[in-house]
This record gives sequence, C-alpha cells and structure tokens, in this order.
Amino acid sequence: MSKVELRTPELFRERCFVGGNWLDAGSHETLTVDNPATGEVIGRVPNFDGQDTAQAIAQAEQAFRTWRATTATERSNVLWRWHQLLEEHVDDLAAIITLEQGKPLAEAKGEVQYASAFIKWFAEEARRSYGETIPATKPNQHIIVTRQPVGVCAAITPWNFPAAMITRKAGAALAAGCTIVIKPAEATPFTALALAYLAQQAGIPSGVINVITGAPEEIGAVLTASPTVRKLSFTGSTAVGRKLMAQCAQNIQKLSLELGGNAPFIVFDDADLDRAVQGLMASKFRNTGQTCVCANRVLVQSSVHDAFVEKLTEAMKTLTLGNGFHEDVNQSALINYAAVEKVVRHYNDAIGQGAQRVAGVAPDGSNGSYVAPVLITGVTPPMQMCQEETFGPLVGIMRFETEEEAIRIANDTPYGLAAYFYSRDVHRVWRVADALESGMVGINDGALSNPAAPFGGVKASGLGREGSRHGMQEYQELKYLCMGGE
Ligand code: SIN
Repeated sequence: MSKVELRTPELFRERCFVGGNWLDAGSHETLTVDNPATGEVIGRVPNFDGQDTAQAIAQAEQAFRTWRATTATERSNVLWRWHQLLEEHVDDLAAIITLEQGKPLAEAKGEVQYASAFIKWFAEEARRSYGETIPATKPNQHIIVTRQPVGVCAAITPWNFPAAMITRKAGAALAAGCTIVIKPAEATPFTALALAYLAQQAGIPSGVINVITGAPEEIGAVLTASPTVRKLSFTGSTAVGRKLMAQCAQNIQKLSLELGGNAPFIVFDDADLDRAVQGLMASKFRNTGQTCVCANRVLVQSSVHDAFVEKLTEAMKTLTLGNGFHEDVNQSALINYAAVEKVVRHYNDAIGQGAQRVAGVAPDGSNGSYVAPVLITGVTPPMQMCQEETFGPLVGIMRFETEEEAIRIANDTPYGLAAYFYSRDVHRVWRVADALESGMVGINDGALSNPAAPFGGVKASGLGREGSRHGMQEYQELKYLCMGGE
C-alpha cells in the first residue's frame, strides 16, 4: 500500500472475503488499483471469474440457512457491533477511501460516519420488522401477514461512495435476515474489503457477508443467472442498470436500482439567496461533483440571476483543489481521466453554444485527473451538460422567467432522482414540491441524504428505496397466512 500508514494495517486486504476466508482467485489473476490523485498503484485484488463467484453464492446460500433463523435481537446486536467498529476505525477507513477514491480526507471521514449510520439505523430497524393482522372475511378466520427474508442477495456498488453504498445495502439485507455477495467497483475495492474485515471482527457469521472483486461483466452475469440469488441491488449508471434488469428477468430476481440523476436546482425570486448559494455549494461540490444527487442544472429566476451569480462567484473562492490528503483541500482529483474528458466536453459544448465563463478555470484536460471548479452562465436546456450528468465541478446557470417554465424545464429529462428548490412562499413550496418528477426533493436544503429517509428515484433513475424502514422492506417478502377455524 503506497504511502499511507494505518493504525490497524490489517484493514488493508488484497484478498476476497468468501465464507469467512480470505481468498485469491482460482486463476490467481489479479487487478491493480490506482490512486486517482497520483496515478500510483495502491495494491492488487483478485480477479474473480464466474466459477469463483459461484462459490461465493454457495457460501452465502449455506450461511442463509442459519442466519435466517437468528432472532432480530441477535442480528441487531451484531450489526451494532459492526457499526461501533466503523466508528472506532474512522481515521483508517477514511484514509483508505481517500487513497483509492481521491475525495478529501474530511469528506472521507464524513462518508465513514454516513456509512456507519446506515448500519446503526438497520441494527435498530431489525427489531421493528412488524407484520400485520387483517380483519377476517369469514367467521373464525384469521388473516396474518409476516415478513420473511428474500434469501441470498447480491450488491453491485459504485466507486463514488465506496463505504456508504455498501452499508446502505448490506445493513438492510442483514437486518432482514438475508445474506449477501458484494461486488464493489473495480476502482475502490479496498474500502469494501476493510468493511468485510470489520464485519468479521464484529462476529458476523461466515458466509453472511462476502466481498468479491473482479471483472464486472462476468461476475454480474453469474450473479444474475443464479437461481439462488433472489435479489440484486445496484447503484451505478442507467445504462448498466438497464442491462442488469434485463438479465434479472430470467429468474425474476427482485431488483433495487439507484441509477443516474440530472438534478435541477431552482432558485425562485423569493428565495433566501445566501441559503440557496450555501445549498448549491453543498450539493454541487460534494465529492467534487461526483454524486448522483449533485445539482446538475441550476435554474435561477431572472430578477435574482445577477445577485445569485455574484454571491456564488464569491462562495466558489473557498474551493481549493488538490490531493485529498492535503489539509485545506476540498476539491480533489476526479476518479479517472475519462471523467475529466466528460467535464471538458460539457464545457466546450456549452461555450460553443453561447455560454460564458464567469469564474474558475476553463477545463482543458491538461492537469491529469484534476479539474478546477468553473462557473458558466447563459446555459440552455439543449446543451450536453443539461442532458447528461456532468459528474464534475462544472456549474452552469440557466435563467427562467416563470414558475411554470422552471417546472417544465426541471421535469424535461428521463431522470428523476433528486431535485432542489429555494423559495419562502409556502404556497409555491407545496405546488413545486408536488409538481417535480423526482424521488427526493430538497426544499431550502441542498443536503438531503440521510439514513432515516427513503433514498431513490423515479423514471430512468431507478427502482426501490434505500435507507429508512422502506430500505429494509426491499429485502423482505410478505407472506400472507390464512388460518381457518371451526
Ligand atoms: C450517490 O451519489 O449515489 C449517493 C449519494 C448519497 O447517498 O448521498
């Protein structure tokens, strides 16, 4: 491991975790993992193939037989211990995140806390897995509804939140009584393996959590073709989600998909502009613009446009780009050069169609994986940056005149994950909140992620919800018991 000293070096693992054992690939092939900030190789992980994956599924199946029979209290206690271990190792886990993902260390610590909050939430939720009784329709009959674990689950997780997107799925699955095979993103496997190590230390039984690394297509094909795997949860692009959904059709596997977004961020003329700027900074520049819920299209009502742009320009002076390990840095390298090229393409397309740069540096791809924050105005809906997620620190401002126009532009996208708006008019707040086509709406708030709330989207942004009580129910089947009587 390159240039990071961990207090608990055992957290850095270069083997997969299957059935309680740390394993190499059957082929002994490995994949290298780079630090996006420096390009240096951090380490190697096994390149699991289909056969290795099938073995992990078999281990999860075996563990399910006993895990499903544990009490909610037992599951809660062991999850609680896992949560505590994350808290105890926050500094090391954050260092691993920054090393492989790039995000600034303070943000990485925030992510570890966010990740551990999901485990805590589901440790508590495990105890509240209530069923239902329904008034009978015949004399002496009883109608009872219970909840049962779905079975063996699979999770395919992204690189932008290497810890939280795992605990949001695994916490819910384990609380419900399911076992899980996790395939983390190729760019960020070490956080996942560190979480698996802590799960083992917490006393989570062998086979309940399995973490496998390798080529996504082959592993994904085996996970979706297996009749043993009863549910797949995926966070990533809509294109890959669509493909996995088609693959899951063969065995009618349950699915949760948290896919791409194209979040509108609307500032109305009655908004508190300082709060709106603060909210946009929090939303847009979290993880250097690499989140699915990042503000992607900023719409500002004409009469407050100039004042908003001025305040935003000022606020953006607090952004410092650099290696995530350096103090004071709050914007880091993007995950890879392809991510840089996308920002450059969006910027050039917008400028080519008449947008103007008002702050920051024009991105040209000349600084490796680094892109400085940049603000442009005069953005219009047909521009590429309004059609696709930019996933980088480029902010484009669009002017609008009326509430109807803002809603029409905001909804004019196949996506519907998060949306944000700022207004102090209570009637407008209800109208706009109702009209926006998205699974989550931040109203006078740019940071809506929270373990207690249902996270997920509508339209091409996905299916199902994560976090909250709904998140655990995604890993359960309802069973209706009809008891007849004399
Ligand atoms: C994501 O970007 O996929 C998740 C962001 C969050 O949980 O806040």
